[in-house]
Formats: sequence, C-alpha cells, structure tokens
Amino acid sequence: MNNKTVNDIDIANKRVLVRVDLNVPLENGTVSDDTRIRAALPTIQLLLEHNSKPILCSHLGRPKGKPNPKYSLKPVAERLGQLLDRPVQMAPDCIGPVVEDMARKIPRGGVLLLENLRFHAEEEANDPEFAKALASLAEVYVNDAFGSAHRAHASTAGVTAYLPAVAGLLMEKELNFLGQALAAPARPFVVVLGGAKVSDKIGVIHNLLGRVDSLLIGGGMANTFFKAQGKAVEESLVENDKLEEARTLMSNAGSKLILPVDVVVADRMDAEAQKRTVNVDAVPAGWRILDIGPDSVKRFTEYLRTARTVVWNGPMGVFELEPFATGTFAIARALADLSGATTIIGGGDSASAVERAGVADRVTHISTGGGASLEFLEGKELPGVAVLEDRHISSVMERGTHAG
Ligand code: 3PG
Repeated sequence: MNNKTVNDIDIANKRVLVRVDLNVPLENGTVSDDTRIRAALPTIQLLLEHNSKPILCSHLGRPKGKPNPKYSLKPVAERLGQLLDRPVQMAPDCIGPVVEDMARKIPRGGVLLLENLRFHAEEEANDPEFAKALASLAEVYVNDAFGSAHRAHASTAGVTAYLPAVAGLLMEKELNFLGQALAAPARPFVVVLGGAKVSDKIGVIHNLLGRVDSLLIGGGMANTFFKAQGKAVEESLVENDKLEEARTLMSNAGSKLILPVDVVVADRMDAEAQKRTVNVDAVPAGWRILDIGPDSVKRFTEYLRTARTVVWNGPMGVFELEPFATGTFAIARALADLSGATTIIGGGDSASAVERAGVADRVTHISTGGGASLEFLEGKELPGVAVLEDRHISSVMERGTHAG
C-alpha cells in the first residue's frame, strides 16, 4: 500500500476524526454481529496509546438523509464500550455546536462516537460544507473504513480537503492482503467465485482472468455458463442477457475456468423441497439448481489443494437454507484445511459462510468489505483510498494548503 498510515504521522494528543465502518446488523436494538466493531479496535487502541482523542464516525444502514432512531449508532457505542473496556460517549449528531463542544472536551482516554452520518443527505452527496463541518471537529483524519472505501462520500472523500488524511490499520491490512493477491500472488493463484448473479462479477472475472491460474465458478452464477454451453438448466436462476458474455469469457479463459460437474437440484426454493444430486446435464424438468454437488466439491478441492494464494467471493449455493449449504461449507473447510496458502475471504456472504462453517479462525484474512472488496478485485480505484496521502508526497498541512 502506498498511502500514509496512522503510524506515519504525529497523532500524539491530537483530536483525530476516524471514519470507521460500523455498519453492523442490529437485532432488537442490540448488535447481532460485532465483527466490524472488533476490526476497528486496533486503530482506536493505537490512538488511545498515543493519548489522541478518537472522534469516530460511521454510517449505519441507509436512512436516506433523515434522522431515524432505527438507524442510531447508540447500540454500537454500547458494544464498542464493552470491547474497549471504557465508556464511549455518544454524540446526538455528527456536526453542529453541541458536537463541536463535545469534541473539544473529550477527556484523556475518552472516545467519542458521532451519530449516523447518513442522517444528513449531505454525507452521500459529498457536500463540501458538510465535509468541512466534520473536519472542523479534529486535527487529523484517519480512514479505517475499508467497507465504505468504494463510496465517495463527505466522510470518506470530501473531508480530506480539510485535514491531513491517512489510512488506519484495518484499511492498511485490507489493502495489503487484497493488493498483494492481485499484484504478486504466490502461485498457484486460485480464485473461487460464487453468488447468485454473473452480472455482479463480470468486472472481477475480466480483471482476474489474466492473473489467476484457475478460476472456480459455483453458485447461481454458474447456471448462466451452463446455459451458454447449451445445457438445460430448467427453472434455475439464469441471466439470459449475459449468455453471450459468458460464452466470450469461457472462450477467453480456456482451461482456467472450472465449472461444477454435479449439482444439487430441488423442485422449489424451500428448505422442505424435494432434492437430489444430478449431473449438470441432467437437471429434471421443472427443477432448479440450488447448490454444487459432492463431485464438484472434490474437483474444486483438487485445484485448491496445491494453491498458494486463494481468494473466495460468493457462496456455492443458497446456503441460507440448510439443505443447500453443504457445498458452500465444504469449500469453506477446504480453504481452512490448506496449509502454507494465503486464504482471503471477500466480505458479505462468503465472510458469513466461513463464520457459520466454524472455520473463521483458520483462514488468513476475512475482508470487512463486501462491495469494496469486489470493486477492488475489479481493479477499480477506491475513492476513499485515492484521496489519502501518498507515502512519497508531503501532507496537506506540510504543503501549507490546509483549508480547515
Ligand atoms: C457495506 O455494508 O457494504 C458498507 O458498509 C457500505 O454500505 P452501503 O452499501 O450502504 O454504502
């Protein structure tokens, strides 16, 4: 990673605005999965060790630019406080005089969490005045929100016009793992892609084909490739407008692109449905493909066994329904069983699959960014990273153009 990090600048005793991605699931008013909160801890702890005053900001959900108690970050402040073993002060808003006063008065060892940034439409609009108001709370800006780095919002992009801007430790870790896999992977480099739609992954396939040794494709997206090969996939999810694209990808990829050989089919999308395992050429009339079969798991595992770098993004089937989770969990275990390989799990569904398969602690890196990791794998520049200071260029403050 070429950006400056929180370790490259003087943060001692400073008020530091930290963009974190605390967009976590809530159930009955409490945090039901604190993975992203835990991932944010190293940067916060580093700041506290330097007697800095962390002013944390995040979005939660999509409240569409208006305050809505359903999307308040209060439950997050509570969980964060438990994890840090110190109280986290919750601000009633993210900008304005009351918040400014709270930011000025953060005691030594204190942590302030601002209320949901997306209670203001100006956040997503990347409004300069809003960005300036956020920046006015602090002396330094740290972006540790890899999960939101694909958004060009006021708190991820605009704010950097007014403060020295560096990456946090989570951001650094994410960019290093994903960046290394794309730029100089230990080989063989194997990518496993899944998920419902091929249209979500076309950019990734294009960007990866020239880099990987093998590309294993499962999940609903494989159906479009099957149909493009002339197979009858019956009621399976297919993107008919992507058949031509699938044909082109297969002919460009040659023997690199590996598809399932057998699949689990069902007469309807339901945990109680009738199901059976069939060859990919033998989907019964009126049935649909909902998982990869055991021979496909075996085939994929053979490619994985010798891999030195693996990136996995997207489940192999409808793993939310227990009868169709077998293929996804088998791939999760196959990755966990690899020794001497770097295994990187894209965020979102694949992250929750490795959790549910009970192997989260046996893979090298689980990304906290779903959309962000996909865009990174597509080769796109992430707006929240592009605006951070370069290691080789002096900071906005050092250049004397500090606008705040
Ligand atoms: C995510 O959960 O992927 C990030 O927090 C980004 O959320 P968004 O898609 O609502 O911008």
